[in-house]
Amino acid sequence: MTDVPPYSRYASLYDQTGQTEFVRWAWPYVLAHLRRLDWHGERVLDLACGTGWLVPILVEGGFRALGADLSREMLLNGLDRAGGRLLQADFRALPLATGSLDLVTSFYDSVNYLTHLGDLAAMLAEVARVLRPGGYFVFDLNTRHTLSEHWQGICQTRLADDLATIWEATWDETTNVSSLRATFFVRGDDGRWDRFDEVHDERGFTSAELDRAIRAAGLKVAHVEDYHARRKPTGDSRRVFYWLKRRKG
Ligand SMILES: C[S@@+](CC[C@H](N)C(=O)[O-])C[C@H]1O[C@@H](n2cnc3c(N)ncnc32)[C@H](O)[C@@H]1O
Repeated sequence: MTDVPPYSRYASLYDQTGQTEFVRWAWPYVLAHLRRLDWHGERVLDLACGTGWLVPILVEGGFRALGADLSREMLLNGLDRAGGRLLQADFRALPLATGSLDLVTSFYDSVNYLTHLGDLAAMLAEVARVLRPGGYFVFDLNTRHTLSEHWQGICQTRLADDLATIWEATWDETTNVSSLRATFFVRGDDGRWDRFDEVHDERGFTSAELDRAIRAAGLKVAHVEDYHARRKPTGDSRRVFYWLKRRKG
């Protein structure tokens, strides 16, 4: 069985596997904190936007929104929903002008897909470049604790009429990467089941690694919070949100 690239064949099933709820719950929470931080602006980029669910929410809220993602297949599945406001881009190289954005967001552990520290540094530098001074970058991460303790060894199965999935994850202490093998069985119109597999690698970052990379990129942590507990992160936090501000000058 040959694996297909992450978010290639899964893209057409992404919306039906319940993954798109997260961004709809998280956006009001993110915006409330931005307002508390006295952020104002209208030009927003949702990075690693997947199938584009945040874009129409932003447009409805009066923002000028754009979504970007590496996966062409994810974008194709979101094109209508986002009214075409999508572009294909790697978040380490954005085809956007310097200082052209007020806010960049990246939801649902997309940043964990950067499996090397150099990639994290490149992405933060690129986001800092496209933000205006005083602009914000908000993203969430699966913590190292989640990937190394809660995901390690999981085997989750789900069965629906036309779709069966098996998710298995293993943690590598030497690379700090969790590899999630997602196996899909999809029933076609002829009733036959077709199998494909994707491997999704997510890196667990330490706070020190993040702090160093954030500072080096010319960003500063304005707020950080445990998403579930809604308080300062602890060693047990599962998902953490960062509000980073682009330094002036
Ligand atoms: C868990 S999905 C989240 C999608 C969307 N933000 C959501 O909340 O539904 C992770 C996304 O990150 C994207 N991604 C991974 N690596 C990327 C990269 N280097 N540049 C841009 N997007 C990337 C994937 O294609 C995928 O759409």
